[in-house]
Amino acid sequence: MTRHEGFFQQRQPAAVLKHALLREYTKVFASTVGSQDRARPVWVIDGYAGAGAYEEPDPEGTHPDGSPLIVLKMAEGFQSKRVIKSIFIESDAAAVEALNQNVTAFRQRGLSASILHGTVEDQMPSAWASVGNDPVVTFLDPFGVAMLRDTMTGLLLSRSRDLPPSEVLLNINLEAVWRIGGNLQFVAGHVVPCPGQEGGVQRIDRFFGGTAWRQTFYDMRQEHGSAARAAEYVIENYREQIRQDTGYDSMSIPVRRRPHHEPLFLLTLFFRHPVGGYKFADAACRATRKWRETYRSQELVEFLGRQQQESLFGDSFEAETAAKDGERQEKELDAEWVQSICDNVRRINSSRLAVAPNVSLILGTTLGLAGERHIRSAWDKLAGEGYLRPRDTKKKMHYSSMERA
Ligand SMILES: C[S@@+](CC[C@H](N)C(=O)[O-])C[C@H]1O[C@@H](n2cnc3c(N)ncnc32)[C@H](O)[C@@H]1O
Repeated sequence: MTRHEGFFQQRQPAAVLKHALLREYTKVFASTVGSQDRARPVWVIDGYAGAGAYEEPDPEGTHPDGSPLIVLKMAEGFQSKRVIKSIFIESDAAAVEALNQNVTAFRQRGLSASILHGTVEDQMPSAWASVGNDPVVTFLDPFGVAMLRDTMTGLLLSRSRDLPPSEVLLNINLEAVWRIGGNLQFVAGHVVPCPGQEGGVQRIDRFFGGTAWRQTFYDMRQEHGSAARAAEYVIENYREQIRQDTGYDSMSIPVRRRPHHEPLFLLTLFFRHPVGGYKFADAACRATRKWRETYRSQELVEFLGRQQQESLFGDSFEAETAAKDGERQEKELDAEWVQSICDNVRRINSSRLAVAPNVSLILGTTLGLAGERHIRSAWDKLAGEGYLRPRDTKKKMHYSSMERA
């Protein structure tokens, strides 16, 4: 079995985070743009769709949803007259067959779900033609690093500002960049692939839109002695170049196996309106909580599995204790993050700080963990300390500005 064949067999906590964020953000996107022109549908394009569900059941015996079913369930539960239409692109024939079966029940219940069999490179123009000028969020979740820079800038992020939004949620495989970047060498004044590694390196060239990343990666790795840090740096450059070419901002949420591990993926949203970034950060807060719940319950299952005999008080006692520990840890994290946001706001030291455009600065290292409720608590705390004026509780946070008292 190849690494890729194993992908749809069982879902890892990192995939739980990816799917939770996809669910949370597509819903928020549809609600935000859905209030504008109800006659237009909102579209979700899932570029590397996969089979729709995992082959292996989870411990509860159900087959976890893959991204297509996450999107369809979100669309089905969406409480609005506005219709959500989805397009799934998948190149593998067996996955397309499974996907067709998995979406049948949704189609029968009236949901719009088109499946395009072929590569993203070939099929995206036709998906794009169906979308027209309607609002759309495109989710791109390839194996490794595959998305072409030209398709990003020339198609998906090419809309003019007066049209409804087109946003892209790209799952960037940081690990693939550092692994393949490790196959570069310096020869006769140039950074080139080691023999036999040309294919992988050229795939990354196509993603970054040229070979310039090679030198940057090589230099950064030499300087810091860390391929992971070098990969983060070339991806930051890529995001900045996209911003310069298209005017799109971006925000990356790190996806780790466990807290304190190196991030393996960067779930990156490309957006134009600051409210998009703000809502994405808040959606990430809910999604990472779900991820913590998942690995805690996985750890419990592993712990119980390691016990040779049933623990002194029984499995249900262990489960109850673990649940209480989890709640306590969440409370501690909430308090820690609120304090960290307070410190950030004091450090920014601005007389008037608009929340949505500055959400990355306000959240700082808590980006991806803390969300709106933590910003609200931090604001109230700083107002209580006499540093900020109290917030207008009738005004939405993403339209609010923090003002010095
Ligand atoms: C990481 S998996 C997708 C997982 C899926 N998004 C989910 O969350 O359930 C990547 C999928 O992309 C498909 N694929 C690979 N290259 C592709 C291409 N060039 N165009 C479209 N699909 C491709 C693979 O067959 C695989 O099913």
